[in-house]
Amino acid sequence: MHYSDFGLINTKKLLIRALHGGYAVPAFNFYNMETLQAILNAVLPTHSPVILAVSESALDYMTPNMLMGMIHGAQFKKNQVALHLDHGHSFESCKRAINIGFSSVMFDGSNLTLEKNIEISKKVADYAHKYDVSVETELGVLAGIEDEKTFGKTCSYTNPDIVADFVKQTKTDSLAVAIGTSHGLYKRKSEDEKLRLDILKQIAANIPTIPLVLHGASVVPQKFVNKINTFGGKITFARGIKPIQLRQAISLHITKINIDTDSRLAFTASIRETLAKHPDVINPREYLAKAVDSIAQNCTDEILNIMGSCNKV
Ligand code: G3H
Ligand code: 13P
Ligand code: ZN
Repeated sequence: MHYSDFGLINTKKLLIRALHGGYAVPAFNFYNMETLQAILNAVLPTHSPVILAVSESALDYMTPNMLMGMIHGAQFKKNQVALHLDHGHSFESCKRAINIGFSSVMFDGSNLTLEKNIEISKKVADYAHKYDVSVETELGVLAGIEDEKTFGKTCSYTNPDIVADFVKQTKTDSLAVAIGTSHGLYKRKSEDEKLRLDILKQIAANIPTIPLVLHGASVVPQKFVNKINTFGGKITFARGIKPIQLRQAISLHITKINIDTDSRLAFTASIRETLAKHPDVINPREYLAKAVDSIAQNCTDEILNIMGSCNKV
């Protein structure tokens, strides 16, 4: 089925509007009914557009039929919701998502040689565009925090000098850039470490009409880390991206901000707290409903304090 049959919008349309409007569309990951409900509970009252992001492993976990059944049953406005494959690692994976009704796919060739990245990104874009599906690709590598970030052989930051040619050759609709974020709980070695907004500025200047994407952008709120540790968890170190840095990145053409870790933290903290405080509870609906509220509250806070996407549907 085509994504328009599910009431979904072409992701590129959301991103171009965001680029012109100077805000970012949140891309929140989900992997079950509760995480999907939580995201929708945040975007419906705030009238925010949203990109529902599904990783390959989340797609396998939900199964395509169950996932699309949930999307079919979900309530949202026209022009509000896009469904996006996050970190597709092959042409086949992107094709599968397009064929089941996704409105955009990411081909993540960031670990390949430049030539191979261009070749497969272009193949994905050619296929996707036949179905009016949009494509995100990536240049640069979101390195582990220990890696040395340079433009050299272990290149991690996106090289601004090659982005224009990459976009021209691949016909990508948006580009994920590496400017100092990384996935997961631990993103910065010290409080002083900042995003490389200077690199982002050069990228934006070289491809001013292309929406840019920031992966690994979770804030990692300390309140969730503390709650998890208070109620039996063991997170030894965690440091996210400062909201002010994300807002500055938005002013430099970041139009899609990917958040997964923050929702995982909100979910886990809430469940740990409920079960620890109410050891007699055995009905999963009791602790899952609270966990949905916890994620929804955090997504709402991020829409209001970071994305600037409130009332942009
Ligand atoms: O960027 C990656 C996302 O956090 C998805 O992770 O493959 O564990 O679902 P996952
Ligand atoms: P975080 O791990 O910072 O939430 O990043 C999520 C992401 O980039 C999904 O693609
Ligand atoms: Zn990512």
